Amino acid sequence: MIVLGLETSCDETSAAVVKNGKKIISCAVASSLEFHKKYGGVIPEIASRAQLETITGITDCAIREAKIKLRDINLISVTSGPGLIGSLLVGISFAKALSLSLNKPLLGINHVYSHFYANFLSGEKIRLPFMALVVSGGHTNLFFVRDFDKIELLGQTQDDACGEAFDKVAKILNLGYPGGPAIEKIALRGNPDKIKFNCSGTKNELDFSFSGIKTAVLYYVRDRKTKVRRQDTADLAASFQEAVIDTLVRKALLACKLKKINRLVIGGGVAANSRLRGKFNQAARKFNLNCYFPPSSLCMDNAAMIAGLAYQLFKKGHCSGLGLSAELN
Ligand code: KG4
Ligand code: ZN
Repeated sequence: MIVLGLETSCDETSAAVVKNGKKIISCAVASSLEFHKKYGGVIPEIASRAQLETITGITDCAIREAKIKLRDINLISVTSGPGLIGSLLVGISFAKALSLSLNKPLLGINHVYSHFYANFLSGEKIRLPFMALVVSGGHTNLFFVRDFDKIELLGQTQDDACGEAFDKVAKILNLGYPGGPAIEKIALRGNPDKIKFNCSGTKNELDFSFSGIKTAVLYYVRDRKTKVRRQDTADLAASFQEAVIDTLVRKALLACKLKKINRLVIGGGVAANSRLRGKFNQAARKFNLNCYFPPSSLCMDNAAMIAGLAYQLFKKGHCSGLGLSAELN
């Protein structure tokens, strides 16, 4: 079964052709990141305008690269939320038009769930049920996945998302946007034990909170205004990153223990971080867990993960129709 995926939830415009939920035939991604950089974050109006201009070309590109015709597509899938409303509507409207004109079924897909599905596109055989941790710019969620349409939310951030905290701390340290890769890079030269940062506690042990640690970094820098040198920045970045990763590892392991599950699937932009991967792998060996990550390119927003998950859900009887609208949460 050939599924076309479309993704326009944030600053990317992506189209992909995926076969049977597993094999990526083509995946084209365009990003408006360059235009947002000078503002230090994504500007929704810039993102949706860029998507409006790009979506036809990107879809064309994915179809041509896959060496198929539009009529060969069996299902059209699109991110229906959560995300920026203007951006989501560009993808949804385009997908509806394609569905109507080609007379092919349409399925709206949850962007956050698709992030953990990215693991199934690299040939990994992962048995259900499993624990999933999604760490992205907009979300930090722990899910217990019994099946692709039986997903239980166990914990989520109470304030900033994990990637958002990386972005904000990078801004405080003048490292530019997006902050995650910049922090990862400079942290390589820093001492993660130099400053003891902690993530705030939460009422539900499986929830997360990252705004406190971001403020702690801000105060640390403010109190030493003239004295933060290059090495201090590296130590600050490494210490912040370490505290965040240690919290993610601790909570994900706790969730696995509570649900007596030894498969942990990780996804989202922050899952591209090599220190995070190293520390999860280390914990996995120690506690006899199987820990999975998508390749780095599939950690970022892409339409292949949308098409992949759509295949699984369509097979179970899910279908949206032209009444599909954007879900904001
Ligand atoms: O999943 P994603 O592409 O978009 C959302 O759905 O939000 O994630 C983007 C987020 C950004 O906050 C970015 O700073 C973070 O992922 N990120 C990283 C790394 N690469 C991207 N965070 C830490 N380390 C990285 N290497
Ligand atoms: Zn995402």
